[in-house]
Amino acid sequence: MHRRILAPCALAAASLLLAIPASAASFAPGAPGIGDPYYPYYGNGGYDVSHYDVRLQYRPATDELEGTTTILAKTTQDLSSFDLDFLLDVSEVRVNGTKAAFTASGEHELVVTPKKPLAEGTSITVVVRYGGVPSTKSAYGFSTWHRTPDGAVAADEPEAAWWWYPSNDHPLDKATYDVSVAVPDGIQVISNGTLQSTSSQLGWTRWNWRENKPQATYLTTLAVGRFDITTGTSEGGIPVVNAYSKDLGENDGAARASVERTGELVDWLSEYFGPYPFGSAGGYVPDTTTGYALETQTRVFYSPRQFARGSNTSVVVHELAHQWYGDSVSVKGWKDIWLNEGFASYAQWLWSEHEGEGTAQELADYVYDSHPADDPFWTVAPGDPGPDNQFDAAVYDRGALALQALRNEIGDDAFFAVLKGWPKKHAYGNASVADFQRYAEQVSGKPLAALFDTWLFEPVKPAAPAARTASV
Ligand code: ARG
Ligand code: ZN
Repeated sequence: MHRRILAPCALAAASLLLAIPASAASFAPGAPGIGDPYYPYYGNGGYDVSHYDVRLQYRPATDELEGTTTILAKTTQDLSSFDLDFLLDVSEVRVNGTKAAFTASGEHELVVTPKKPLAEGTSITVVVRYGGVPSTKSAYGFSTWHRTPDGAVAADEPEAAWWWYPSNDHPLDKATYDVSVAVPDGIQVISNGTLQSTSSQLGWTRWNWRENKPQATYLTTLAVGRFDITTGTSEGGIPVVNAYSKDLGENDGAARASVERTGELVDWLSEYFGPYPFGSAGGYVPDTTTGYALETQTRVFYSPRQFARGSNTSVVVHELAHQWYGDSVSVKGWKDIWLNEGFASYAQWLWSEHEGEGTAQELADYVYDSHPADDPFWTVAPGDPGPDNQFDAAVYDRGALALQALRNEIGDDAFFAVLKGWPKKHAYGNASVADFQRYAEQVSGKPLAALFDTWLFEPVKPAAPAARTASV
């Protein structure tokens, strides 16, 4: 097209453009993935979500979930169709008020074809009406929707959203959320952010939660069950909301003795990482047998198993550290997972040091010594571990070792300036391992390529670091 040549004759140019049917021009389907090499179909191309309004009803007895999700987004290219990531049964989709065609495709794609193609830069409101039994749905042969004796929990990484709301499921597209779920009276609903209100009618209680800071899809959580909810405010002024299943049994005391310290630990972490990035903090412990914890934004998911051996403030520190490292500053791609797990693990070392249970250097020496050179532990590169090793011990432990090596290389002043400066520089955004290396080089004034390569990327045990604790 010779637009430039035609431009002076504006009327002719306009009528010429109008004569071309939209579909014949640049309108094309949005990509079924956002472009993450670890997970080619996670997220989608062609639009950017600003807000999710998830309004549901859930029956714990039968695991039936139904309702609507309304998505506010803006197109980033001319679109003839676009995808959402979702598994439940969809009955209607509307785009800007008009019914759209839709079809399920691949493992978890919902392809939406609006009646008229959408030009780049268009604000769209997408209403998806749906229902289903989440526990009967799987993708790639697995499900992360956990039923409990009294309800259900959606909390996993990287996959959690598909079982309960349609989304652009990748940390690159963060949005604000309203999560509103109605459950039978007497049952509680836990989600992210602040409880705006509850209301009861016809035997159902509706719980309205709101998170008004950008949030990644996998950090959006839903728990339904019989919970005891506690509220308070940290000394530093952060509102705290925690919830404990009423059926924690012998783990109840240790769970509360750990999670009730959330306010104290948020304030303590703020000294290292800067101001807490969100308007609410807390955690919930449902009646689940799941083994992991997850840093779901503002409202951490803990398994009772974390407290089976006694109180565990270390896991609380880990998950709260993620509120800065992972939740406010999120990965650009899943290969950047060290930016989450390495730092949350290092926060546990700082807590150990604070508690007099071993310094960071002692713990680094211990990790280094406890894995001999032929241990497969050293074959996983925390800086790019591959999708199968995203949560390998190396990402956590060697990941923290890398930070101890950085601390020894650039000194405490620069190291702690980096730890505090990074969450400020990228607050509510996304960043990569390469971005972090550049930032640490800029703050310290030292070239760090060799150090990052040795500790994060070489699939072998690094030579013994010079800095070591004198042995006991
Ligand atoms: N980010 C979580 C943590 O705090 C790990 C989640 C691992 N996911 C899983 N399904 N095991 O370390
Ligand atoms: Zn973690």
